[in-house]
Amino acid sequence: ATILVLHGPNLNLLGTREPTIYGSTTLDDINQTLTTQAVDHGHHLQTLQSNAEYELIERIHDAKREGVNFIIFNPAAFTHTSVALRDALLGVEIPFIEVHLSNVYQREPFRHHSYFSDVAVGVICGLGNQGYELALQAAIKQLEN
Ligand code: DQA
Repeated sequence: ATILVLHGPNLNLLGTREPTIYGSTTLDDINQTLTTQAVDHGHHLQTLQSNAEYELIERIHDAKREGVNFIIFNPAAFTHTSVALRDALLGVEIPFIEVHLSNVYQREPFRHHSYFSDVAVGVICGLGNQGYELALQAAIKQLEN
């Protein structure tokens, strides 16, 4: 199956961005680990990081055309703002898991609301980059069932 991992704004800075909150692992490291994990289980992984909402929306639309089976998504700051991305995911009907590196519930109140959680298959937050690996493990399990 094909799994798409989407990373929202500012996640290109991972490794140097607020490392006490987000850790010192880079986005390339995360994508590499996930690619290996997917390939080991006989699946294909695609990744995209974008700082632009429209690029993420268009990637989600393309995913439908390409037959992507599952999405793992860290919408980053768009988590708390984007009805458009929520509608894109609802529009393509591709199941997705929402991931956050930090525990958003330990942070500012504006991070406590997500436009995605109620329509996600599941949500993982606060486990750092391990959250992506757990999400991928869960996605693979769902796809194999
Ligand atoms: C984040 C949490 C968001 O509140 C924040 O805007 C991010 C990253 C996380 O992975 O912890 O950019 O999604």
